[in-house]
Amino acid sequence: MLIVSTRQKTMTQDELKQAVARAALAYVVEGELVGVGTGSTARLFIEALAGMKDRIAGAVASSEDTKRRLEGHGIRVFELNDVSSLPVYVDGADEINAEMHMIKGGGGALTREKIVAAVAGQFVCIVDGSKFVEVLGKFPLPVEVIPMASAHVTRELKELGGAPVPRAGFVTDNGNLILDVGGLQILDPVDLETRINQIVGVVSNGLFARRPADVCLLGTSGGVRTLRADD
Ligand code: 5RP
Repeated sequence: MLIVSTRQKTMTQDELKQAVARAALAYVVEGELVGVGTGSTARLFIEALAGMKDRIAGAVASSEDTKRRLEGHGIRVFELNDVSSLPVYVDGADEINAEMHMIKGGGGALTREKIVAAVAGQFVCIVDGSKFVEVLGKFPLPVEVIPMASAHVTRELKELGGAPVPRAGFVTDNGNLILDVGGLQILDPVDLETRINQIVGVVSNGLFARRPADVCLLGTSGGVRTLRADD
């Protein structure tokens, strides 16, 4: 006898990431370039993108890892400086709130991610449901720092109420260090992003609030939900 369950199947985090990665293909503009983020969700997007590689002009990568993966799938990678328009950037996040402000940089690629996102017309954030939060800050905020400034930046971040911890054994694609700042409850992400940017020696920080996502594809067991800041 076939028993049909009416209960919804619980999807794993990987299946939710897979679902949003596939859903993001709908935002890729045929014949154009696409900006590609870094991390496990972005990697699933790259695999999905490979299925339509003959219908895009190529990609701009947000990290050396992403560049290698794109090229491994035969997708042509362009330098950002050689590109005059980039309709869409697709990337994951460590946390995202209803205003589409994000914490990013768990994979350490925050600076290049922020640069590519700044050029893109539209930022499509792809996350599983666990990343959606009311208040940002439970995930330690990554800050990329010039190595000789790390002690100074650490003191300044403590002044702002954070608890910075150097990311052990990690060097960014730009040759810098990451401080992961715990203990923050980020009630005004735009203000904190601006303040941290003003600390001498900071290259960039993982708050993406001044340039938030335009769309969030949120993976839930009920399907992929599309969120926008004005929803
Ligand atoms: C990398 C990032 C990633 O987008 C972020 O860490 C989320 O990663 P994942 O998709 O593996 O959960 O900002 O610097």
